[in-house]
Amino acid sequence: MNINLSENKDLLVLGIESSCDETAASVIKGCREVLSNVIYSQIDLHTVYGGVVPEIASRGHIEKIGTVVKQALSEAGKSLEDMDAIAVTYGPGLVGALLVGVAYAKALGWAAGVPVVGVNHIEGHICANFIDNPLLEPPFMCLVASGGHSHLVNVTGYGEYEIIARTRDDAAGEAFDKVARAIGLGYPGGPKIDREALKGDPDSIEFPRAKVRENEYDFSFSGLKSAVLNYLNSCKMKGEEINTANVAASFQKAVVDTLVGHSMQAATDRGVTKFAIAGGVASNSSLRKAFEEECSKRGIEFMRPRPVYCTDNGAMIGVAGSYEYLLGYRSGLDLNAVPNLSIGDRKGAIKNVSL
Ligand code: KG4
Ligand code: ZN
Repeated sequence: MNINLSENKDLLVLGIESSCDETAASVIKGCREVLSNVIYSQIDLHTVYGGVVPEIASRGHIEKIGTVVKQALSEAGKSLEDMDAIAVTYGPGLVGALLVGVAYAKALGWAAGVPVVGVNHIEGHICANFIDNPLLEPPFMCLVASGGHSHLVNVTGYGEYEIIARTRDDAAGEAFDKVARAIGLGYPGGPKIDREALKGDPDSIEFPRAKVRENEYDFSFSGLKSAVLNYLNSCKMKGEEINTANVAASFQKAVVDTLVGHSMQAATDRGVTKFAIAGGVASNSSLRKAFEEECSKRGIEFMRPRPVYCTDNGAMIGVAGSYEYLLGYRSGLDLNAVPNLSIGDRKGAIKNVSL
């Protein structure tokens, strides 16, 4: 469906995100303009455990969500009653974490008489590309690589998604986090490997690039993760010193080669003219550079969100929710968290019980 942005330039949507370890809220005007973007990161709560602890995440969201939403509205100079809709992530993610945002959004919507729109977190990541690319319109292809997901998606229209490839095992971000832990860099792994890799030689260690027989575009990162662990073990057994920067750089190169290689193959095969990246891993400096170069070689227009809109945020949920709202989707009081929600699925997001 075509959406006329100029007809909807005054639309105001509050976006709320609480699917993992960020409590975030944002006010979006006219589908794409960010009036505020408040993110409370729980990194400090989880660092001591070396990863996200679901119960601690839920409690952290409960403690912060009120303040974060109030701040987002106040920085935008708006009140809750000014909102045309409240968009909230309802899946995929950690069930307890998601429930905090969903319950909070429904309560706000009910109290203020504002419609609630349930948003798919992965679709939110994809829609982050609309923020800094005002002229971007579907169709385009997008690689979404985050801590829990790695998908290659064809965005065929607003709110319309066709999955072309997925990971068979670990997500790209998960591989970054596990390898970071193994080489002693700790949590959160992605940004730490990104920085460490700058000091290393990406060609120093030969790590595998997995191919999946059934679908040549699919990803698989568990073999790579095992190869890194085996390499570390064999160094230890031989009493050799481990060069952390070289391991980080070589591992990162293997992930980047795979993500870029499969994406460019799919984009070329399908005659794609616009390619975007999204999700936490899309903030990786080496991945961004590689995509820029490879897209430019093939005459494909390349788009990526600013790093702050790659990792979890409320703005991307507000943007995705604005389009869902204009497409006519509304959620009801029966909106629930759906931890394993697929891309393009509106399971449970369509109103049954009115707010
Ligand atoms: O999208 P996101 O914030 O949350 C999920 O939806 O999962 O992504 C988080 C993931 C983590 O695995 C994190 O290590 C990874 O994105 N990440 C990165 C970078 N920044 C975050 N991976 C590689 N390089 C980065 N600079
Ligand atoms: Zn995410």
